[in-house]
Amino acid sequence: VEAIHVTAAITDYDVLVGCDILSKFPDLLAGFDPGGELVVVTDDGVDNRYPALPFLSRDAHRVVLKSGEHLKSLDRAVELIQKLAGWKVSREGMIIALGGGVIGDLAGFVASIYLRGIRWTVIPTTLLSQVDSSIGGKVAVNLPHGKNLVGAFFPPRLVVCDVAFLAELPESEFVSGLGEVIKTALIGDQRLFEMLESKLDAILARDADALQTVVAACVKVKADVVSKDERDRGERAVLNLGHTIAHALEAAQGFEDIPHGVAVLLGILAVLPLSGTSCGLSDETADRIRRLIGRLPIEPPSSLPPIDLIEPFLAYDKKVRDRNVRWVLLKNIGVPVSGVTVPVEQVRSAYKSLSEVR
Ligand SMILES: NC(=O)c1ccc[n+]([C@@H]2O[C@H](COP(=O)([O-])OP(=O)(O)OC[C@H]3O[C@@H](n4cnc5c(N)ncnc54)[C@H](O)[C@@H]3O)[C@@H](O)[C@H]2O)c1
Ligand SMILES: [Zn+2]
Repeated sequence: VEAIHVTAAITDYDVLVGCDILSKFPDLLAGFDPGGELVVVTDDGVDNRYPALPFLSRDAHRVVLKSGEHLKSLDRAVELIQKLAGWKVSREGMIIALGGGVIGDLAGFVASIYLRGIRWTVIPTTLLSQVDSSIGGKVAVNLPHGKNLVGAFFPPRLVVCDVAFLAELPESEFVSGLGEVIKTALIGDQRLFEMLESKLDAILARDADALQTVVAACVKVKADVVSKDERDRGERAVLNLGHTIAHALEAAQGFEDIPHGVAVLLGILAVLPLSGTSCGLSDETADRIRRLIGRLPIEPPSSLPPIDLIEPFLAYDKKVRDRNVRWVLLKNIGVPVSGVTVPVEQVRSAYKSLSEVR
């Protein structure tokens, strides 16, 4: 088991990465268990596959919710809070989020406000949640006005990434997670990128050793970024590589049509020409990145929304200060540059190049 440390204002914590480590969970948890009620929050997709995870040494309440992004709402959060209150969960209680990013974001959000905050730990079960959403303490629910508009920075006490969970993850979820893996390599780890090039086949075959190496490398990059900038005031912006266009694509298509990881990969492809012009990314390196992305078994959307539909959503991006979109671009693999403004015509032509690729 590899332990990666994250620093945060409320509490530091470790992210443990391993394979088949859940049998050790009671021991791992022992140092963090305040002794009150335990509440496991999960969804039916996880519960159906892992109905009796033998990982707790004492009784726990178990909440199984119907899976989907719809769980990230204030209504579902209130229902969960009322369950906790009904069970008289005290300040010594603890929430255990068992699932993907949706469960983590909802359960963490509830942990952050119930009794002004109770402890929580995460067992992320999707690739995306193991490499991305469970690290950094961002918890949130959505509003009809947009995603993640109500939330907090509220670090968990412990994160346990067991790659054994990834064996049965649906292919589309797995490949979507790989989108964030490639993003993570591009912003922080040249060696991880090289490993993806050489071991992609083993990774796609869900080889446990390869997955453990990849997840640990990604956790290190993300842990490093969020430890330096917990509150998203600067450095953390690099995590948004590929996301300016991805968020606009998702908004223009109506939230869930295009898998997030695929949208991120399209967003990364779109910023390669911008990176060449504004940051000196070499053509050879851009081609290398295109080749790796091209090897993923993704189905590109049959058509993309026209640029005129996309542009208004670019302006809603979080990185917008004044009236310019601030792009995250690449100088090289592992060397991101954030806060770059780019002439509109260049953005238009980069976006158009996406349709020509396919
Ligand atoms: N907090 C953050 O910093 C952060 C960062 C990135 C994304 N997010 C959020 O994460 C969410 C997406 O998370 P996600 O991609 O993990 O989706 P998800 O949580 O909806 O999980 C996807 C599906 O996979 C199923 N599943 C989970 N684990 C499984 C397993 N081991 N085997 C088989 N099926 C399994 C679930 O039941 C669900 O149906 C979004 O809401 C996004 O906003 C948060
Ligand atoms: Zn993302």
